[in-house]
Amino acid sequence: MKTQKIEFLVIDKIKQANDAYTFVLKPTNNLPFPYHSGQFITLFLDIEGHGEIQRSYSFSSSPLTDQYPHITVKKIDGGIVSTHLAQNIQIGGLLVGSQPLGKFFDPYSHIEENCTYFMFSAGSGVTPIYSIAQTILEASQSNIYFIYSNKNSDSIIFFNELELLEKKYPNRFFVKHHLSDNSQLNFLDRLESQDIHDYLTSSSKGPLRVYICGPKKYSDVIINETKSINIPKEKIHTESYTAIVHENLSSEFVIHIGDDRPAIPEEVLIKAKIDGELIEIKCSGEDTLLDALLNEGHSPPFSCMAGGCMACMAYVKKGEAWQEEINILTEKGVENGQVLTCQAFPTTHEIEIEYEE
Ligand code: FES
Repeated sequence: MKTQKIEFLVIDKIKQANDAYTFVLKPTNNLPFPYHSGQFITLFLDIEGHGEIQRSYSFSSSPLTDQYPHITVKKIDGGIVSTHLAQNIQIGGLLVGSQPLGKFFDPYSHIEENCTYFMFSAGSGVTPIYSIAQTILEASQSNIYFIYSNKNSDSIIFFNELELLEKKYPNRFFVKHHLSDNSQLNFLDRLESQDIHDYLTSSSKGPLRVYICGPKKYSDVIINETKSINIPKEKIHTESYTAIVHENLSSEFVIHIGDDRPAIPEEVLIKAKIDGELIEIKCSGEDTLLDALLNEGHSPPFSCMAGGCMACMAYVKKGEAWQEEINILTEKGVENGQVLTCQAFPTTHEIEIEYEE
């Protein structure tokens, strides 16, 4: 799908807890902007000194209850884009974004009556979950357990909004705040496997459906519990988010290293220089950079295919990539744009890489 560019006017900017801001966006073309809860938008920002940078943000609003889409952005220390949005984009400002993207939630098949929804989120992962919860509450009579993990009570985004939702939907919407650094009696301690098991087995109302958004390790623990009580795979929906790990302030690339995989683009344009020759291919964001090139009949260098030999190393020149482990690379190498293409996945719609000759 070709990415469109749509201009939005920021008609409101709301300060949330924990250095997060909600931006209310109105398309300047005055055309409808149909999106689903759980989807995200990619913003195209021209930031002085950094050129065009793209970032994806989930919608925090519900199309059933909000006139215009909202995105909520948590300011990340050292993050070029989140800092720019928090500090420089005010009411009346303009933003350019894509059409809505993502398939975390399908309003046509996921909204069920007499269902119990368990929604697990951690930190900023709450954004799409909060949007989905509002839609399900509005569109059905089902129950939702909203289980939200944070470091401490100051980090809870949407605390007041969640309280209001509990009041609006008594007996159907239950918020459970778990804090890893808890010193207050009215909050629960860190979410443990046993808690997850207890939640998932506590429901007496109809079938279950589970949504999870948080770092990969957090999601894995919850998924393991769903397996242990045989919740069908098709009833489990997950999305991971990440913090930027290596954002080169003077270049146009970002390398994410760690468990938290950024959103996966549906289609990616890879521009790769192999032996001095520039080639372009299109692929799914599900393939590693190396697999994508091999699948199209090209001959990039590789050997072990396991992150242990450096044979497949290339430099990211533009765009973003994600590798779960740093493997044989060094921190310094990653700062300079190195990735192991047998391990790295593209995470932007376009990426430029260069193999050493
Ligand atoms: S082929 Fe050995 S690290 Fe990628």
